[in-house]
Amino acid sequence: MPDPVIVVTRRWPQSVEDELQRRYPQARLNVDDVPLGPDGLRAALRQAEVVLPTVSDRLSAELFEGELCTRFLGNFGVGYNNIDVEAAAKAGIVVTNTPGVLTDTTADTAMTLLLMIARRAGEGEREVRSGNWTGWRPTHMMGADVTGKTLGILGMGRIGVAVARRAHFGFGMPVVYHDTVDFVPQHGIPGARRVHTVEEVLETADFVSLHMPGGGENTHLMDRARLARMKPTAFLVNSARGDIVDSDALAEALRSGTIAGAGLDVYEGEPEVPRALRELENVVLLPHLGSATYETRTAMGMLVLDNLQAFLEGRKPPCRVA
Ligand code: DGY
Repeated sequence: MPDPVIVVTRRWPQSVEDELQRRYPQARLNVDDVPLGPDGLRAALRQAEVVLPTVSDRLSAELFEGELCTRFLGNFGVGYNNIDVEAAAKAGIVVTNTPGVLTDTTADTAMTLLLMIARRAGEGEREVRSGNWTGWRPTHMMGADVTGKTLGILGMGRIGVAVARRAHFGFGMPVVYHDTVDFVPQHGIPGARRVHTVEEVLETADFVSLHMPGGGENTHLMDRARLARMKPTAFLVNSARGDIVDSDALAEALRSGTIAGAGLDVYEGEPEVPRALRELENVVLLPHLGSATYETRTAMGMLVLDNLQAFLEGRKPPCRVA
């Protein structure tokens, strides 16, 4: 494919944009970083052989209808539930993602949330910034210990394992996990226990961390009934995808004391975050920072370029998902 039209939907780290332009001077960057939206994405699919979207670009089935120019979609992100891959494949488009390079960084974010919610760090920060802190006292803002508590992992893939290892080897946490797929990566965690149901994890764990893909049967996996299976002293951490948790049910569970707290990095319908959650003190809310380090975002971008180069050279892209 000589000099394909290449559309990048958002700003990328400078060094990756530089490399993209070195390899493909014709690439169209989004210098203003304004989301293309459905109309812009539809136009890109009609005009460009290559579109490089990211996890906040919604490429739903209807965008793949009709005459399209695009042959390759290189998603900047490991999760690709933003793309209707079935519709893309039907339209003859190859889709890739960026697994592996963001595992540790995203696991660090999950641990950040876990520690912040257990130790009320968000509340504490708000108190100091608002000038309302009146000083040390024995009963001030007591939280929950993390060390030695049980961690429950739902979705024991690369990131689930990385979180479990941090929690076990760093904080002495016993690990219980559930996954629906047979293959679970080697975790090397002594005593880690695989159980048959989500419910067994929920009933056992002091912290429940979600690490499955979004969409499909995982949508609202954590609904009212499942939240009620957690201990009233337990915390939920979601650094995976927002739609896995029913946010109305979560807000209610946090308000009523069904669970003790939650740490969230992702939301249904982000960047909107329900007011019901924003008004609560016992939830830590981060703006989808999972993989947001210079090193990792650069590695993700370089992996998109590897996928693209393989495709353009007629090889199988290393991270092909459709
Ligand atoms: C991903 O790659 O899916 C992450 O959510 C981006 O931070």
